[in-house]
Amino acid sequence: MKYKTTIIGAGNVGASIAQLIAFHGMGDVILLDIEGNMAKGKALDIAEACPIWNSASQVSGTSDFSDIKNSNIVIITAGIARKPGMSRDDLLNVNADIVRNAAVNIAKYCPDSIVIVVTNPMDVMTQLVFSVTGFTSNKVLGMGGILDSSRFKTFIAMELKVSPSIVNTMVLGGHGDQMLPLPRFTTVGGIPLTELMSADKINELIKRTASGGAEIVKLLEKGSAFYAPAASVFQMIKAIIFDEKLLIPAACYLNGEYGFKGVYSGVPVIIGASGAERIIEIDLNENEKKDFANSVTSVRESVSKLNL
Ligand code: LAC
Repeated sequence: MKYKTTIIGAGNVGASIAQLIAFHGMGDVILLDIEGNMAKGKALDIAEACPIWNSASQVSGTSDFSDIKNSNIVIITAGIARKPGMSRDDLLNVNADIVRNAAVNIAKYCPDSIVIVVTNPMDVMTQLVFSVTGFTSNKVLGMGGILDSSRFKTFIAMELKVSPSIVNTMVLGGHGDQMLPLPRFTTVGGIPLTELMSADKINELIKRTASGGAEIVKLLEKGSAFYAPAASVFQMIKAIIFDEKLLIPAACYLNGEYGFKGVYSGVPVIIGASGAERIIEIDLNENEKKDFANSVTSVRESVSKLNL
């Protein structure tokens, strides 16, 4: 079966995801944007690269939701991005309207799809999609922890001057200022990070990770990060298409796991053909539990503003 992935929002993140899928020939791509012909233009540009990549992906652009019919995977990137000095939560109201409309159309045209939400504030937007679509929770997940973990890995690798590919770590909690990088669950070539780096340096890198998105926003001046966010989404899509059973942190609906019910937060989860297949519960220590609870509380506060 050839997978069909729809990407809603043809900005930098959306177009970069489309490019990665097409480059790897991982099924067909529909790029949708309600803004004029941008999606059509970017999709055609990517389609014209496929012969060079020896890719059989068909890439098309549209502004009409009826064209996304029967997609297997839908990615929501539509919405406005942060400007320097803004937090992800500052985007809540504007992006909620955009994401709600996307969710209504996904439920109508792709009732069997798996949805990955990227639009910020991501955990809240994921909960909105879950609520509006009425999909089962395994089919609605948010991309955050994989990106935050990749940033933490990058900073560790830069500091230790090692390949980032041998750093293993996990960042849990919401994809916001309260995220939880976990040094206790971080290894470099199998060696615990705490054996290789001082506590002060680890704390410095944790802070840099938590503000990793803002660091890019500040540097770019216009728009926010897109290469690493797109790579993160691509990894999740690949895990679904190939039923990889990949263990990564992603925003999942908690139904008692980690002591919380009825809220989305970043937790370790196995990703496979059915989406978020199994949440893995790890024993957090008292401090980590407190930080996780703070992170969940901040997601809950924003969710309550949406009256879901
Ligand atoms: C970031 C956006 C994707 O962290 O939230 O760069």
